[in-house]
Amino acid sequence: MTALSDDSGFDGLDPRVAHAQRAYNRATLAIYDRLVLGLGCSLFWRCPAGEMLRLYDRSAGRRHLDIGPGTGYFVDRCRFPTATPKITLLDLSQPCLDKSAKRLVRYRPDTCSTSLTPCGPVACCSAPRCSPKGCR
Ligand SMILES: C[S@@+](CC[C@H](N)C(=O)[O-])C[C@H]1O[C@@H](n2cnc3c(N)ncnc32)[C@H](O)[C@@H]1O
Repeated sequence: MTALSDDSGFDGLDPRVAHAQRAYNRATLAIYDRLVLGLGCSLFWRCPAGEMLRLYDRSAGRRHLDIGPGTGYFVDRCRFPTATPKITLLDLSQPCLDKSAKRLVRYRPDTCSTSLTPCGPVACCSAPRCSPKGCR
């Protein structure tokens, strides 16, 4: 992994991580559901949000780790096999974690602020069995 040093405010982050950090902020998240899920899913990915939701319905379990929840749209709408799923949200973007955790507050989700790439340290995690070396 390559570390970058520039004036972007993302010094030392892997370029891919820095890109994701920039892309998912409060402004973009405010229009994400309507623009990306409403339009982009069908137009660019050829997979309408309804189809993605069906895939979520099939995969959602009693203990659910959602990696990169974005706005939490799908986790909010999918059907869990229990009324009280144990949900952990993992994302490198704090705005994404804030937005999705707020949306899913009824499930009282744990949040894990980290990047799945090897360069990212675990900065903060509310999951019960999380250590500085990562979530277990
Ligand atoms: C395209 S959005 C998908 C959001 C949501 N799953 C959906 O389908 O609407 C990608 C999400 O993954 C997160 N993400 C991207 N790279 C990541 C990484 N290396 N580690 C953790 N989260 C990452 C972003 O912050 C964002 O929340």
